[in-house]
Amino acid sequence: MEVLSNLSVVSEFVFVGLSNAWEIQLFLFLFSSVFYVASLMGNLLIVLTVTSDPHLQTPMYFLLANLSIMDLIFCSSTAPKMIYDLLRKHKTISFGGCIVQIFFTHAVGGTEMVLLITMAFDRYIAICKPLHYLTIMSPRRCIIFLVTSWVIGLIHSVTQLVFVVDLPFCGPNELDSFVCDLPRFVKLACTETYTLEFMVTANSGFISVASFLILIISYIFILATVQKKSSGGISKALSTLSAHVTVVVLFFGPLIFFYVWPFPTSHLDKFLAIFNSVITPFLNPVIYTFRNKEMKVAMRKLCTQVINYSKIS
Ligand SMILES: *[C@@H]1O[C@H](CO)[C@@H](O)[C@H](O)[C@H]1NC(C)=O
Repeated sequence: MEVLSNLSVVSEFVFVGLSNAWEIQLFLFLFSSVFYVASLMGNLLIVLTVTSDPHLQTPMYFLLANLSIMDLIFCSSTAPKMIYDLLRKHKTISFGGCIVQIFFTHAVGGTEMVLLITMAFDRYIAICKPLHYLTIMSPRRCIIFLVTSWVIGLIHSVTQLVFVVDLPFCGPNELDSFVCDLPRFVKLACTETYTLEFMVTANSGFISVASFLILIISYIFILATVQKKSSGGISKALSTLSAHVTVVVLFFGPLIFFYVWPFPTSHLDKFLAIFNSVITPFLNPVIYTFRNKEMKVAMRKLCTQVINYSKIS
C-alpha cells in the first residue's frame, strides 16, 4: 500500500464523451441546455407555487416541493459541467471535482428514492385511510420522513465514497462518459478493483432495486385496497397513481439498467447518463403538475400576481 500511494499521480480525469464529431457534440449541447433550463424553471415554479399558495399547504405538496428541490440539486450537480464540457475539445475534471460529483449524485439520488417511497406512503394513507390522513401525515411526521430520507441518502453516498477516496490512480485517466460515474471511476484505479467494483455496483443496484420493488408493491397494494372498498374510487386512484408509477419507472429504469444489466453496453450508458442528469429532473414537474388541476390553478394565480406586481412597480 505504501508503495502504491506514491504512484498516485493522476490529478485530473479526461471525459472521452460520445464522439468527436462536432455535429453530435453541438446537438447534445443544445439538447442538454434546453432540458437543463427547463428542469430549473419547472422545479423552481413548483417550489414557488407550493410555498406561495395557501391551498397547497398539504403533506402531498410539501413532499412534491421537496422532491423538486432535490431535482434542482441533482441536475445542477452534473449538468452545468457536462454542458460546458460539450463545447470544449479537452474535457477534464479534477480528482476532487469527480468525488464531489459522485457524492452529490449518490446522496441526492438516494434521498429521492426514499422521498418517492414517502410519497407513495402518503398516497396510501390519503386513498385508503382518508379519515386519519391529517393525523398520520402530521407536519412533524413529514419533517421526520424528510430528515430520514436525507440521512439514508447521505449514508448511501458516504458508504460508497469511503472505499474509493483513497484509491491510488497512476495509469490511464480517461473516463468514457460525460459525468463521473462510480463504476468507471473505480475501474481506473491502479490496483485490483474487481471486489470494489462489485461492491459499489451492488450498493447502488441494491438500493435502486429495493426501492423500486417497495414502490411497485405499495402501488399494487393501494389499488387492491381501493378495489375492495369501492368500484367508483378506482378510476380516481388510477389517475393519481399512474403519474406516480410513470415517474418511478422513468427514474429507476435507467438506474437499474445501469447498475444491474450484466452486459457492458458502450453507448447506451452514456445516453442514460444524459437522460438521468437532465431529463428525469425535468419529467417530475411535468408529470406531477400537468395533470393536476389544483396545481394548474395555483400556477395561473401565481402568474397573474407576478404580472400585476410588475405592472404596479
Ligand atoms: C419540505 O417538507 C417540509 C416538511 O413537510 C415542509 O415543512 C417544507 O415546507 C417543504 N419544503 C417546501 C419547499 O415546500
